[in-house]
Amino acid sequence: NSARRPLIAGNWKMNAGGQEAMPLAAAVARAAKEFSKVEVVVAPPYTALAAAAHELFGENKSDVGLAAQNMHPETSGAFTGEISAGMLKESGASLVILGHSERRQLFGETDELVARKVGSAIAAELRPIVCVGETLEEREAGKTLEVVERQVRAFLDELAKQPGFGVIAYEPVWAIGTGRVASPEDAQKVHANIRGLLASASIELASVTRILYGGSVKADNAEGLLSQPDIDGALVGGASLDAAGFRKIIEAA
Ligand code: G3P
Repeated sequence: NSARRPLIAGNWKMNAGGQEAMPLAAAVARAAKEFSKVEVVVAPPYTALAAAAHELFGENKSDVGLAAQNMHPETSGAFTGEISAGMLKESGASLVILGHSERRQLFGETDELVARKVGSAIAAELRPIVCVGETLEEREAGKTLEVVERQVRAFLDELAKQPGFGVIAYEPVWAIGTGRVASPEDAQKVHANIRGLLASASIELASVTRILYGGSVKADNAEGLLSQPDIDGALVGGASLDAAGFRKIIEAA
C-alpha cells in the first residue's frame, strides 16, 4: 500500500464542540508536523469547524485536513437544522464523513441517501469519507461481505467519477466504541474485498482509493491494523479526543 499516503482521521462525534476544540486541534497540528508522511484529518462538530479552521490554517498553518461529520445533499433551501456542502467549505472544511453507522442506525440514513450525499459532496469539491460496515447480527449470520458490498455498490459510481478524491472507511458496527477491535486479518479480508469491488469500476479507482479501518482503534492496536496491505489508515473515534493517544496512532501509520 506504499503508493497510497496513509490517512489518520479523528472523528470527534458530538464532543469538543466548543472551547475544547481549539487546544485539541492545535495539539493535532503539532503531531501532524512531526509525521508529515501521514495525512491527518480532524472532524469536529459543526459548531467548532470555524474555530478549528482558525487554529489549523491561521498563524500556525498546518496541513491537517478539516472534515465535517455529515451534510445535507441539497445546496440550499428550506431544510431547518441542516448544513450544505457549500457551507462546510466556507467554514474551512475540505472533507466530510458520510454514512457513518451512527447516522445510518440512529437517523435512518439509507444507502440511497448516502449515495446522494457522496455525489453532492464531490460536486462541491468536498472529499467524502464514506463509511460502511456490518452489525454484529449481520456478522454472526455470515453476511459481512454481502452487506459491505451492498453499501459500497450504492456509491461506487459516484466515487468512480474522480478516482482518489473520495475515501472509504470500513467500520464494523460491533467494533465502534466497544473496545472490541476487528483482528487485522479479519479487517484485511473485508478491505481486500472492498478493493476488489472498486476494481470492478476501474483499476485506477482500486489502486488510488484509501480504505480506512474504524472501530476501537487505539495507540496499542493501530500498528497491527495499519501494517495490512489494504488498510490505508484509520478513522478514530474515542481515541482521537486524547491528543497524546491520537499522536501515537499517527506515529504508528
Ligand atoms: O468514526 C469513528 C468511529 O465510529 C470509531 O469510534 O470510538 O470505536 O474509535 P471508536
